[in-house]
Amino acid sequence: MPYFDFNNIRLAYDDVGSGRAVIQLHGYPFNRSLWNEQAGVIGKSYRVLAPDLRGHGDSDVAAGPAAMDLMARDVAALMNELQIEHAVIGGLSMGGYVALAFYRLFPERVDALILADTRAQADTEEGKNLRAKQAVQILAEGMAGIADAMLPKLLHPETVSKRPELVRRVRDMILYTKPAGAAAALQGMAARDDQTQLLEQISVPSLIIVGRDDAITPVADAEMMNQKIKGSRLVVLEAAGHVSNMEAAEEFNRAVLDFLATV
Ligand code: MLT
Repeated sequence: MPYFDFNNIRLAYDDVGSGRAVIQLHGYPFNRSLWNEQAGVIGKSYRVLAPDLRGHGDSDVAAGPAAMDLMARDVAALMNELQIEHAVIGGLSMGGYVALAFYRLFPERVDALILADTRAQADTEEGKNLRAKQAVQILAEGMAGIADAMLPKLLHPETVSKRPELVRRVRDMILYTKPAGAAAALQGMAARDDQTQLLEQISVPSLIIVGRDDAITPVADAEMMNQKIKGSRLVVLEAAGHVSNMEAAEEFNRAVLDFLATV
């Protein structure tokens, strides 16, 4: 597995295929294996890069909150390392927060955006408080309790009842996350800025994808982004929850490939 070093931390990534670069950013508290279903398919026609964001997967945990801007700068550093000037930037959930931060910081390096199961708004005060409690719990008890609490919210009820292998994979990703990395990401997400104003300034082709039954970043959030981003395309995936790229992988890949063919 390739690694690169940036600002004294080591970050892991996958690099599959060749051609135009498509960078896929995973959500919290997952890792780059979230994109396994995409790498094999999209990687046939494009160069698909999937980093483990700081504190996740095989990447190091850095001290302090993992701010979305820091994660976006890590992505830019990966591009520098691989001499990729610009790319399609995609992200699911927290990965979408990072993709928006990346666009704000480096708009000239973004060919197109893919925003999956994510939102532009900042956390509410209640949301911030909940994240602070979760960070304390994770640091004290590890990831198992949070995995049990999150799984029914992350996945469509049919996924939970009929696809034990997929449920196990999502659970394993959560358990693989280092508690300090998860706590840092929670602090980073709680501190993130509202990006609603940014949406109207986005001038690259944008695809918005959401699971019909996403309970964490619901369809209404995707519709709001679609309304504000000029010329964007919205695809709602049936029988999918928050992890729509795994739960409806075929439809997700089709939506992405159709979109990439036009940008
Ligand atoms: C994620 O999937 O990245 C998180 O659920 C996003 C969040 O907690 O806001």
